[in-house]
Amino acid sequence: METPGNHILVIFGASGDLARRKLIPALYALHVNRLLPEKFAVLGIGRSAYDTGSFRNYMDESLEEFSDDFHDDQQFLEKLDYLSIDPSVEDSYPLLAQKLEEIREGHSIPENYIFYLATPPSLYDVIPGYLAKNGLTSEHDGTWKRVIVEKPFGLDLESAISLNRSLLKVLDEDQLYRIDHYLGKETVQNILVTRFSNGIYEPLWNRNYIDYVEITSAENIGVGNRGGYYDRSGALRDMLQNHLLQLVALVAMEPPSEISSHTIRNEMLKVFQSLRPIKKEMVQDYLVRGQYMESHVRGELQKAYRDEEGVPEESRTETFAALKLYIDNWRWGGVPFYIRTGKRLPTKVTEIVIHFRPSPHALFCSEDAGYNSENQLVIRIQPDEGILLKFGMKVQGAGYNVQNVNMDFHYRDLMNADIPEAYERLLLDCMQGDSTLYARGDAVEEAWRFVAPILERWEQDNKFPLYGYPCGTWGPEQADLLIEGERRTWRYPCKNLADDGTYCEL
Ligand code: BG6
Repeated sequence: METPGNHILVIFGASGDLARRKLIPALYALHVNRLLPEKFAVLGIGRSAYDTGSFRNYMDESLEEFSDDFHDDQQFLEKLDYLSIDPSVEDSYPLLAQKLEEIREGHSIPENYIFYLATPPSLYDVIPGYLAKNGLTSEHDGTWKRVIVEKPFGLDLESAISLNRSLLKVLDEDQLYRIDHYLGKETVQNILVTRFSNGIYEPLWNRNYIDYVEITSAENIGVGNRGGYYDRSGALRDMLQNHLLQLVALVAMEPPSEISSHTIRNEMLKVFQSLRPIKKEMVQDYLVRGQYMESHVRGELQKAYRDEEGVPEESRTETFAALKLYIDNWRWGGVPFYIRTGKRLPTKVTEIVIHFRPSPHALFCSEDAGYNSENQLVIRIQPDEGILLKFGMKVQGAGYNVQNVNMDFHYRDLMNADIPEAYERLLLDCMQGDSTLYARGDAVEEAWRFVAPILERWEQDNKFPLYGYPCGTWGPEQADLLIEGERRTWRYPCKNLADDGTYCEL
């Protein structure tokens, strides 16, 4: 793979959690794999009073904690620099410009910059504005400037449109990289390869052969110390509007004419544009929301969401959401997609299950023969990454009894089984100017447009049901009712683990 052009990566919010847990370890992995450019520097920006020396020490400790194979690599640490300024203040930017010039001169780096916004969202339009005012975003004489914006990209449709507008006043769309880290996951990219590099799946990948599609992204952790942020967000904004809808788009899109950021993102956008709008008055027929409540899981007490730090006692924020949606186009007309996500569920798993239609004639008539003839393709995004196909097979011996068996591929069985972290891939792509795995402005807006009536209904109707579910269960029982039809059900990768607790309406 070609190494990217020489440049400086400026991280705003460098003393924060994202930088130390994800960004610096990802850069270190790129360094170890020799994928960083020959002339490269990282400039950390933050209000915390580090200097370059103490910032390097801090990152040294962070790498020890978050990077598997880190061992006091001075060559990497020397690439890190720090400038303590307040990025919300205009006067800080001449200092930044001066610092960048010093680094460029010291390392003979051309005027190519990536600005990574790992700050509170309130600064997402402020920083690019000041950068532009100080001439730091203008591309001249073959140089380039790119800006990576972390999620959340807006809090609702209006704020996303307004953020897009203010960013596009000072940057071109192709300078903008909106992160959705799910797109950086190896197994998520493999959805495209599975679908479009094999002749066997695509002919079946439509309403004629698929009964329904299920997407689950479950976490067993709670909100931890992020209660303050999470309570303003909730599962719908935090996971469903972005990560889960991106998965829907990859599963449902038409084949692109070629692999390029333009063609792939055009096809993904078309999926968002085809989502059947959910009317505000009908939200209860399509969506179930829940909140985790105290319970013991394998003997250990797990506290209720409302008892988490930073969460109001009477919070009505959802920590679980299950949604039924339809894609109104020729390929998917009438096929329901059921998607669910939640915290404090029994396990951590993200998977996509394609439920094929049963065979047209149940030849082998044992009691559960109908069920047995339903094939499932399970795309396991994480953990235990892989693909599983379930199909019926004859039970040995007399008669024709059918049993379900698995054809199961695990990434871990490959010779080179290391799966790169999402941030490694995404940072490298941005360095190479490839925005395919970043969300485009129009698609982000469409995704917000789809969830807008749900948010409006919740805002206007404080009686909209919110169901409590005990920690360690698969969310409220009402989520099961969303799956219509006798034979339709969620796939449960493991059993409920709660030792006690009851479901109730909050
Ligand atoms: C983040 C959400 O975007 O994704 C978190 O803000 C969530 O709440 C996380 O825990 C899940 O990511 P992953 O990669 O662990 O599935």
